[in-house]
Amino acid sequence: MKKIIIAIDGPAASGKSTTAKLLARKIGYVHLDTGAMYRACALAAKRHQTNIDDPSQIMKIMSDIKIDIQYSNNGNLIFLDGEDVSEEIREPDISRLASAISAKRHVREKMVELQRELGKSGGVIVDGRDIGTVVFPNAELKFFMIAPLEIRAQRRYQELLANNKKANFQEVLRELKERDLADSSRVLAPLVPAKDAIQIDTGDLSIDEQVDLLYGYYQNLMVGS
Ligand code: DC
Repeated sequence: MKKIIIAIDGPAASGKSTTAKLLARKIGYVHLDTGAMYRACALAAKRHQTNIDDPSQIMKIMSDIKIDIQYSNNGNLIFLDGEDVSEEIREPDISRLASAISAKRHVREKMVELQRELGKSGGVIVDGRDIGTVVFPNAELKFFMIAPLEIRAQRRYQELLANNKKANFQEVLRELKERDLADSSRVLAPLVPAKDAIQIDTGDLSIDEQVDLLYGYYQNLMVGS
């Protein structure tokens, strides 16, 4: 059967990554979490104390950076210069820095190139902000996931607690709101739905329902092809 590219875009904590991971398992595809790649860039910048507003410093870290992805049943493992940083990139300060650094041209150019290389053979579900619009505009199936801010903040908050992280609901809410605004209002590859994306509101859906819904679209497409 033909192996296609499935793009899933949407704001932070809209359920993209979890849905992508489970859907990939169900179809037998790999899941590529592009947010994790920008997070790894942010961690590199933090470690090198890079001034991200200085293009020459950004160019320097982007020319030296080595990001590797390993696909596992439990999501992507991200390696920065050979070190597994999958946990460290989930810290709140890295979320903020990832959003800021992802607005920089050199960072996007390098990451988009890597993402295209990783997804070129198909059989992949790629989640992010600009997958259906910029990275894979010809993806056979595109989804744009949304959910009300309060619900997304509640999900992220519960996720932090479940991982034994300190969390304050109001802070989580504010951070998501700021990041959504930054990601959707930036000049380069802003968060906007592709014209041909199917919009999914996950506000009232369980994870299983989200996966089943997307799987239904996938099956319909494959039956028709
Ligand atoms: O999906 P995430 O929350 O882990 O992504 C972290 C940041 O990376 C997000 O705030 C914006 C950026 N990002 C992006 O600009 N383009 C993508 N395709 C994925 C993420």
